[in-house]
Amino acid sequence: MLTNKNILLGVCGSIASYKSASLTRLLIKAGANVKIVMTSDACNFITPLTLSTLSKNLVLTEYFDPKTGNWNNHVELGLWADIFIIAPATANTLAKFANGICDNLLAAVYLSAKCPVYLAPAMDLDMWKHPATQKNINSLISNGNFIINPAYGELASGLTGDGRMAEPEEIIELISQELKKKLPLAGKKALVTAGPTYEAIDPVRFIGNHSSGKMGYAIAEELSALGANVTLISGPSALKLVDKNIIRIDVTSAKEMLEASVSNFPGTDISILSAAVADYRPKEVSTLKIKKDSPAFELELVKTSDILTTLGQKKKAGQILVGFALETDNEVANAIKKLEKKNLDFIVLNSLSDEGGAFKNDNNKITIIDRDHHKENFDLKPKNEVAIDICKKILDLLK
Ligand code: CTP
Repeated sequence: MLTNKNILLGVCGSIASYKSASLTRLLIKAGANVKIVMTSDACNFITPLTLSTLSKNLVLTEYFDPKTGNWNNHVELGLWADIFIIAPATANTLAKFANGICDNLLAAVYLSAKCPVYLAPAMDLDMWKHPATQKNINSLISNGNFIINPAYGELASGLTGDGRMAEPEEIIELISQELKKKLPLAGKKALVTAGPTYEAIDPVRFIGNHSSGKMGYAIAEELSALGANVTLISGPSALKLVDKNIIRIDVTSAKEMLEASVSNFPGTDISILSAAVADYRPKEVSTLKIKKDSPAFELELVKTSDILTTLGQKKKAGQILVGFALETDNEVANAIKKLEKKNLDFIVLNSLSDEGGAFKNDNNKITIIDRDHHKENFDLKPKNEVAIDICKKILDLLK
């Protein structure tokens, strides 16, 4: 959620200033670009060197750096930031921010910032409870700032009460949740199927296919990046998910994938079925390994249930259902037949005749066909970019 986000961290002078070091480390670990402004009091509690080493950027404390002769442009800094966090925020700095007092670099950056501002207060319990502080807090909230409430616990004074700065992990979690709320698919539930299915012949053999699962995994990652709560039902695949928010359900056979899909389908807003499900399975599964005694061997196969058709029959108004069509001939006509028969909102056609596309490859070349049979052709591109194209179509449908 914080990858490539420009985060400006303001650090005030408090016994909690040491927590800004772990906050910086966690922000960097989450992939953010971090710049830090400290008040001169903060430098009495933690050194700029510690924070510049962790943030990989020069830490700023004054308008003007006498050593380099550089003017630290507060307006530029304020505009650079996607998010401004002040942690710890002292009673003094909160009072300055609430009243527009601009007597240090941090306050000037605050007044210039156009991005969301998160304040994590830290102070003694009576300072926090004081009507003056509470008045400032209310005024900061009404000015659009976000207050990360201090926690209850033992304070530096030896007293116990509200005033401890929120832990860095909580700050990161809270900001990530707030960012997620603003994403276009926030609050939407999505279901994705991916990979092959294996249909057992005996304990050691199965009928399978060459699907790697790459397309479905890329779609799941993209839906989650857009804010959806994603469940990925995956056939056997060596792939790993990057996004830890995605719920992954591992299945082996078409029957298991059907059961998992049907039980997760109610309440989903978006379902994209990209798995290469086996169309047939052995009628009987031998409990023992089949021996090569006879010169020929016949295997009776029976049809598996079509998961997409099953979900298409259960689909309610407002649910978006998307399928794939893998074709070798009469591609568009066959894809349109599947779109109609399976009650889809659109179908993603990929052709085996496109070199470098579809199965096992990192790239794919697709055509999206919608309910009006309108066709949109896309270039051969990496599967994560194909996933972006598919999700853009979903966003269009939701408009
Ligand atoms: N599909 C499914 N369950 C199955 C078979 C297919 O959910 N038992 C889904 C796939 O995930 C895909 C779509 O149906 O989204 C189309 O799959 P495809 O293999 O192209 O077509 P089939 O419907 O299996 O038809 P055919 O193999 O005859 O082309």
